[in-house]
Amino acid sequence: MIQSIQFVGIILIFINLTTSLIGMTVNNHQIDVSRQLSDVRYASSIQINDVMKHLDELQAIATASSGNRAVEAIGFNRTLDYITNFLSVNTEFKIKKTFFNLRNFQLLRNPTLSSTINGVVKTHIYSTNPAIGEFNYPLYTTSANISSDILITAIPNLGCPDDDWLVARPAPAGLVAIVKRGGCAFQSKGTLASKYNVAALLLYNDGITPSNMRPTKINLGQNNRVPALFLSYDLGKSLVTAANDPSQVATIRLTILTDNELNPVGNICANTTTGDPTQTIVIGSSGSAANLALAAALSSLLETSNYPTYKYRIRFCWWGAEELGFLVLITTFRKQ
Ligand SMILES: *[C@@H]1O[C@H](CO)[C@@H](O)[C@H](O)[C@H]1NC(C)=O
Ligand SMILES: *[C@@H]1O[C@H](CO)[C@@H](O)[C@H](O)[C@H]1NC(C)=O
Ligand SMILES: *[C@@H]1O[C@H](CO)[C@@H](O)[C@H](O)[C@H]1NC(C)=O
Repeated sequence: MIQSIQFVGIILIFINLTTSLIGMTVNNHQIDVSRQLSDVRYASSIQINDVMKHLDELQAIATASSGNRAVEAIGFNRTLDYITNFLSVNTEFKIKKTFFNLRNFQLLRNPTLSSTINGVVKTHIYSTNPAIGEFNYPLYTTSANISSDILITAIPNLGCPDDDWLVARPAPAGLVAIVKRGGCAFQSKGTLASKYNVAALLLYNDGITPSNMRPTKINLGQNNRVPALFLSYDLGKSLVTAANDPSQVATIRLTILTDNELNPVGNICANTTTGDPTQTIVIGSSGSAANLALAAALSSLLETSNYPTYKYRIRFCWWGAEELGFLVLITTFRKQ
């Protein structure tokens, strides 16, 4: 079991709270931090200068790396090196650096969409302004160039279970599937669309409220593998009506051009070597400098023989893509 603490607020507790006993509830688990905090040495051993020293070092890395330490920049890797070097020199912790691929999504050209219903061609309006556009592109859509007419198949219900895709007629493989919003996440619909090998996926808003009429911005998630567009309720409904009418032939052409380049992003985690590994407290934050100071102070204390034994394993983590939508949580936290 892993219990994670959003650390930004916690540092104040560690630094300011010296004598009172506190209990904390994280993810519905009661964590008894009183045992650790009843020994005031940890809190009092952390000095603001320790944190400032790291901030200065991080700034020096940015200055030497064209002014930034962002993902994909060399300053990012230098930051990882700084953290791992500091931890290996100043702690006994078990350190692990893990790289994972992050998709760097970019729309390269405005998408196009036209429909043909019984020979009548309509070119639909693309805009990121939902008040104007009939369709928008979802984040992480892949590219497609459908330059000859492809049949639309309307997925019944909301396209959340496999059954909806299995009973769709015509079968979705190689066709453009259209699915209404609702019932499950857009990501789930995208996963099923790629499982059933669609040529493209048209999602459309559900029209349930006035704000759900227009094609807003949606996200198909880092793992999406299908070309997709998000349509207004009115456009979606008219295409579904035509696709479900045996007396009509409804087809689509579209172009979507995106860059979904993969970039390696690194996480670092460092475990104490003591404490119960089945009860691990994870400490991670955007406050890399504070995190480093905390880790070093804890390591020094654990090396003093008279410091009370910890019940918990402590794991400090520095997240590579936290600011890009907490992407780290998806890849590093599997239920244990
Ligand atoms: C950062 O390190 C990773 C892993 O070694 C590497 O794949 C990537 O190219 C490096 N990035 C830069 C900008 O050097
Ligand atoms: C799509 O493919 C057609 C036919 O191969 C080509 O003429 C057209 O330029 C392509 N369009 C885009 C946007 O790539
Ligand atoms: C750190 O601890 C976690 C949780 O207890 C464990 O899954 C992971 O393998 C450990 N890593 C190392 C490098 O010991």
